[in-house]
Amino acid sequence: MSTQTKKSSFSGSIGFVLAAAGSAVGLGNLWRFPTLASKYGGGLFLIVYLILVLTFGFSLLITDIAIGRRTGKSSIEAYKLVSPKWGFLGKLTFAVPCIIITYYVVIGGWILKYMVASVTEFAATSSDGYFVNFITSKVSPIVFMLVFLAITAFVVYCGVEKGIEKFSKYIMPALLVMIIGIAVFVICSKGESGTGLDGFLKYITPNINDLKTASGTVDVVKIMNLLLDAMSQLFFSLSVAMGIMITYGSYVKPDVDLSKSVKQIEIFDAAVAFLAGSIVIPAVYAFSSLDEIAKSGPGVIFVALPDVFAEMGIAGKIIGPIFFLMVAFAALTSSVSIMEAIVGAGVETFKLNRKKTALAVALISAGAAVIVCLGYNVLSFGINLPTGATGQNLLDVLDYISNNLLMPIGSLLTCVLIGWVVKPQWIIDEIESSGHKFSRKKLYVVMIKYVAPFMMILLILQSLGAFRFLST
Ligand code: PFF
Repeated sequence: MSTQTKKSSFSGSIGFVLAAAGSAVGLGNLWRFPTLASKYGGGLFLIVYLILVLTFGFSLLITDIAIGRRTGKSSIEAYKLVSPKWGFLGKLTFAVPCIIITYYVVIGGWILKYMVASVTEFAATSSDGYFVNFITSKVSPIVFMLVFLAITAFVVYCGVEKGIEKFSKYIMPALLVMIIGIAVFVICSKGESGTGLDGFLKYITPNINDLKTASGTVDVVKIMNLLLDAMSQLFFSLSVAMGIMITYGSYVKPDVDLSKSVKQIEIFDAAVAFLAGSIVIPAVYAFSSLDEIAKSGPGVIFVALPDVFAEMGIAGKIIGPIFFLMVAFAALTSSVSIMEAIVGAGVETFKLNRKKTALAVALISAGAAVIVCLGYNVLSFGINLPTGATGQNLLDVLDYISNNLLMPIGSLLTCVLIGWVVKPQWIIDEIESSGHKFSRKKLYVVMIKYVAPFMMILLILQSLGAFRFLST
């Protein structure tokens, strides 16, 4: 039974699903997923990811949403209501969106820049060094970041139903149409180095050799890395363990079928990730070379793709801007959710006015994000992160702290709280509260009590560098 109903709420199930899918579908799907899928050879990664979404991801997502709806509160207050001694977990969870917003809007600004530049200076975007020159320049990244942040803040300022829900209801279907359109175009196209269809087949076909060492034995290290990378991708992609889905859950009306809604959100999120891979991998395969993905690493959509669009000629001039518009849409609905997790908690905990809180959060985030932008020039430094990745700037460090440390720690503690302290029935009661069926109930109990905590411990150990000896 819901113990409390909030004043702000989504108008119904569709509004909620689209807003939550808007949060989930973002840079994680369009940028990180294709890079990871390509790193692990496509097909096998897709299968592992899908299995994890339907088991591990589903359990974490439904837990967050049910905590939100049952307590009617955002993260800070919600955990206190679940169990008074666990209030600290609310604060830890709340810290995650506070960190993420500072760099998510910076990347959002990069996307806006590419959206504009792919119209105004199309040829230049594919030139060597364009991306690095842009992000290391002093003024431009800050200007684009501020525009991105202002749009985000405006939507949050307008409120849950009039802002977030309305925005997501237009943007998400538009995003789906664009991504399907571009994927079909790319798969049907033919480039210098092959056809899009061959690239697509390479992407979806599992190849067991991808997981073998050069001598033909099973590469245990690679399998383990694949699993851990897929799990950490899932956190980020489903927006779990960061208070966002708890906040959105608190805006869901009691009669909404949570089990069904979660299924729809998962499908939406996984489908967009799959489609993003169906664009990036076949496009790079046909017009360039898949090695380019590995070479450009995380910069794939800013480095490898502009090159591909240039290779496509006139078609690229149309597809390029539409692609970046689509990424901008996805990033905006996500950054709106990150800001809402902060604003919603502020309004509730300190009894503040929403509009003023939204403005205050926007100003503070802008200040912090300016510092993140400067991390690429005046404040740049080099640091070795425990994961083995070399962080070269503040953005990498903030991403490491939030994604590699706080999220798995918060999630592990949430699993202990729900699985062992208040017991899974606490969540199950909420899902079944208005006579709805909880279709994966047994799986949920096993996941939340045993499997998810175990996986989380592995992830935390990996983040602390415990498995680095395996790769040496
Ligand atoms: N889930 C979003 C994505 O895949 O890009 C990103 C995201 C949204 C991350 C909200 C964190 C967050 F709090």
